[in-house]
Amino acid sequence: MHDEKPLLSVLRGKKTSVRPIWLMRQAGRYLPEYREIRSKATSFLDFCYTPSAAAEVTLQPIRRFGFDAAILFSDILVVPDALGQKVSFESGEGPRLEPIEYPEQLSLLRDSIDLDRLEPVFETIDRVKGALPPQTAFIGFCGAPWTVASYMIAGRGTPDQAPARLFAYRHPEAFEKLIDRLVAASTAYLLRQIDAGVETVQIFDSWAGVLPAGEFDKWVFSPVRKMVRTLKKERPETPIIAFIRGAGTHLIELVEGLGADAYGLETAEDPAWAVRQTAGRAALQGNLDPLALVAGGDALDIEIDSLLEAFSGHRHIFNLGHGILPQTPIEHVERLIARVRSPRI
Ligand code: CP3
Repeated sequence: MHDEKPLLSVLRGKKTSVRPIWLMRQAGRYLPEYREIRSKATSFLDFCYTPSAAAEVTLQPIRRFGFDAAILFSDILVVPDALGQKVSFESGEGPRLEPIEYPEQLSLLRDSIDLDRLEPVFETIDRVKGALPPQTAFIGFCGAPWTVASYMIAGRGTPDQAPARLFAYRHPEAFEKLIDRLVAASTAYLLRQIDAGVETVQIFDSWAGVLPAGEFDKWVFSPVRKMVRTLKKERPETPIIAFIRGAGTHLIELVEGLGADAYGLETAEDPAWAVRQTAGRAALQGNLDPLALVAGGDALDIEIDSLLEAFSGHRHIFNLGHGILPQTPIEHVERLIARVRSPRI
């Protein structure tokens, strides 16, 4: 049954005649139908916790474009929320959390995740799974411990996650405890998502690329490997996509030791190099420049064709190198899908 879905086939090691495509942040502000529902919600978190609304916006890009996968509509910051940290989203400014400046403040958080608080997310999954077309895969997700911790410490987005990096240098033991707590919380959360009905999960480590090698090992590689090991042990049938953004040459050690089924590449990474390094051991996902999709025209066609060429013969999931931008014209998304799906010589 599962294997009729192109995305799951690619993740499970099979070559498919169609190249599956979905886009990170495909449910979002570039869609007028998203903005319409979003404008009615009191806050972004309430929106994430309203199953009827979250299910509807999960399905919107599937109805409009027929992507090969739906990604659950939620946010990586529901995990800090379910650990007892205050989380809000300022419109136009991004997330705001009560920052963690001293190790003592960690004791204000729960030791383990309150999955009851996330019940609306599991209900959203239940609603979406019954409404998807048979060929459409369903992706659950969470943030990786390092990326989530970086927001928990800074209390907001920053250009380089300096507050969390400083905290990790100054208080390595306290930081390790936070990371361990996030490993357990995020793994439990993904297990529940799988039980509720998602068919694959993506772990977003959006800020992996700012760390020096030793810190990358401690805060990215090792925690995500722990998560992957537990998930593989507990739910061996569920493929895992790791988006370790900006991993660069670390891709070699990821492919050798992380244990995921696919690795997402970010915009600046070279597909031809990544194909050589992975040598068929994992699928690769990516990595169209979101700005090429905004630009459209010949520039977009050239970028699409060069990716199709670079990944040809390799297990490939077409995606962006990072999330779709709110100013992306709908017609450019239509053009992208048509081009990726058109038969090639
Ligand atoms: O991909 C999807 O369509 C599914 C939903 C999804 C959202 N956020 C919805 C969202 C997913 C998978 C995420 C992941 C996420 N959230 C990440 C990792 C991926 C990445 O982009 O690096 C991160 C770092 C976050 C944290 C976050 N959430 C930030 C920094 C922001 C503000 C920036 C922005 O784009 O506005 C958000 C808000 C957010 N999450 C929006 C959406 C659709 C926009 C808020 C709105 O509609 O008002």
